[in-house]
Amino acid sequence: MTRAETGQNRTAAARSGDDAEVRLGVIGLGRMGAMHADNAARIPGLRVVAVSDPHGPSLEAAVARLGAAGHAEWRELVERSDLDAVLICSPSSAHCDQIIAAAGTGKHIFCEKPIDLDLGRIEEALAAVERAGVTLQLGFNRRSDRNFGALRRRIAEGAIGAPWLLRITARDPAPQPAAYVRTSGGLFADMTVHDFDLARFVMGVEVAEVSAIGAALVDPALAEIPDIDCAITTLRFADGALGVIENCRQSPVGYDQRAEVHGPLGTLFAENERADTLVQADASGIHHSRIAGFLAERYDRAYLAELRAFADCLLKGEPPVATGEDGRQSAILAAAAQRSLVERRPVATSEIAG
Ligand SMILES: NC(=O)c1ccc[n+]([C@@H]2O[C@H](COP(=O)([O-])OP(=O)(O)OC[C@H]3O[C@@H](n4cnc5c(N)ncnc54)[C@H](O)[C@@H]3O)[C@@H](O)[C@H]2O)c1
Repeated sequence: MTRAETGQNRTAAARSGDDAEVRLGVIGLGRMGAMHADNAARIPGLRVVAVSDPHGPSLEAAVARLGAAGHAEWRELVERSDLDAVLICSPSSAHCDQIIAAAGTGKHIFCEKPIDLDLGRIEEALAAVERAGVTLQLGFNRRSDRNFGALRRRIAEGAIGAPWLLRITARDPAPQPAAYVRTSGGLFADMTVHDFDLARFVMGVEVAEVSAIGAALVDPALAEIPDIDCAITTLRFADGALGVIENCRQSPVGYDQRAEVHGPLGTLFAENERADTLVQADASGIHHSRIAGFLAERYDRAYLAELRAFADCLLKGEPPVATGEDGRQSAILAAAAQRSLVERRPVATSEIAG
């Protein structure tokens, strides 16, 4: 029996009909939480009923904007009996406690990546979700991006044959704030985790081995945390295909987000979105508009689509776009990359997952 059959679509079953809606609580109202809350308010079938953040001004702003009840303490929100689901958008180190508490009160969960920084804790959280029979969708927004979605579909259709090589480039326009980096879990758990998930998503195969090198080149002070801001990670997939992920926390070019897959019948390129499609040709050369800016500008449609998909999980019984197991697998790859960096050797994922 699938999870949907055992109770994951309880919301749909409980309140079906044209006026069915999911009553949401949003935990954490920083960059991601404020954006998700505003997006949820635009999506038919979702209604933001309550919000929570320990930071007074962020909480007050969201309460005023959304007309929702506000809680400085997230546990008060989770204990409300008038919510069907929560969006967890707090710092990564808080996700597991919040998942376990939300599952314990029977609420469905959308959680930003990563689930946690510790694999044991991730397994504890996934067990709580399983016990409660609630839905958990992870915020791997690149799965909902039209370019990467098309890349996956074309590979699955056999457009280039069985892939030989994958290349992912992911560079942020500017470094994250120091306070964010300190609770982020490091480059692999925070940033590359998206690329690990994207690699599994487009290739449709698990990764068997990871090698990584990295350095704090943009901001050498990161070494004190310790963390890095540049990395090259290589992947060996279970079917023998090879991959490389290149990350940097700073790029004057903008938010550089590309993927390329090469196989016996050709190569697929998922290119950057541009601010517009203008091309200016003149005596100095041919100029394109700059690539789309950070997070909400580059992935605006993807962030909306992933929340629509979450609504469809709860109201129509659709499967989550990214599951808890996807979160666990990407965390295994992040841990393998970290071990490879420290021990300067390739690390089999079986060493991490046991
Ligand atoms: N999917 C993506 O593209 C993407 C991008 C950036 C960040 N993220 C993830 O989203 C999460 C939040 O990142 P952000 O950039 O919004 O961070 P942020 O620092 O902008 O916001 C975090 C907010 O959570 C609040 N907070 C702190 N402790 C809390 C707690 N215990 N309970 C509830 N709220 C708490 C803070 O006051 C702050 O307002 C992180 O897990 C991060 O990895 C995802």
